[in-house]
Amino acid sequence: MPIPVLTIDGPSGAGKGTVSRLIAKKLGWHYLDSGSIYRSLAIAVQKASVDLAAVDKIVKVAQGLALEFECGDELIVRLDGEDITNQLGLEQTGGMASQIAALPAVRQVLLKKQQDFKQLPGLVADGRDMGTVVFPDAENKVFLTASAEKRAQRRYKQLIEKEIDANLVQIINEIEARDRRDMERATAPLAMASDALYIDSSDMTIDAVVEEVLNLIR
Ligand code: C5P
Repeated sequence: MPIPVLTIDGPSGAGKGTVSRLIAKKLGWHYLDSGSIYRSLAIAVQKASVDLAAVDKIVKVAQGLALEFECGDELIVRLDGEDITNQLGLEQTGGMASQIAALPAVRQVLLKKQQDFKQLPGLVADGRDMGTVVFPDAENKVFLTASAEKRAQRRYKQLIEKEIDANLVQIINEIEARDRRDMERATAPLAMASDALYIDSSDMTIDAVVEEVLNLIR
């Protein structure tokens, strides 16, 4: 029996995580937050005190990456048994993840780890290259985006709610730098699959986005 896959790609802060989790819950499907794998690797690299220029050592850390995901209302991630959920969301982690994610050898190691999430009854996969590289045969693909200002405002709100210090202008700059790095890299750049549905969530509620994606699946 073919395993259905829905891919949701797009830049950071477009609402992919929230939308993907809600849809996975509604459909009873598995959920892959591929960004959290790159983020976890960034934390593992930092813990191992490996320099970002030492590609071979980063690849070794990626090969040995021991992650556990607990998918409840919020995704809990453990690295070597230690709960790293709180560190995952930091913009510093995202920035480092995006530098590591530009390395083709790292992407190659992480490819299979991501494909292993494809299991019955189905999978919602969220990231940058889910519809283009990891699951090119997925029958349902979405490219979810929003303006950099809107995405920065959402990120700012999330951080303030978590009582983490934040500066809106700095977040806009970081988001734009990360977008540029993700779109301009040679391997698996952030790009819309030719067969994906384009959704701009700038002026949409989460519920409206979820409804539009569910319509696509129906
Ligand atoms: O989505 P999230 O912000 O958690 O991703 C962190 C970084 O990981 C991204 O900026 C991107 O560089 C990288 N990433 C990737 N491919 C994916 C998911 C994330 O390159 N499928």
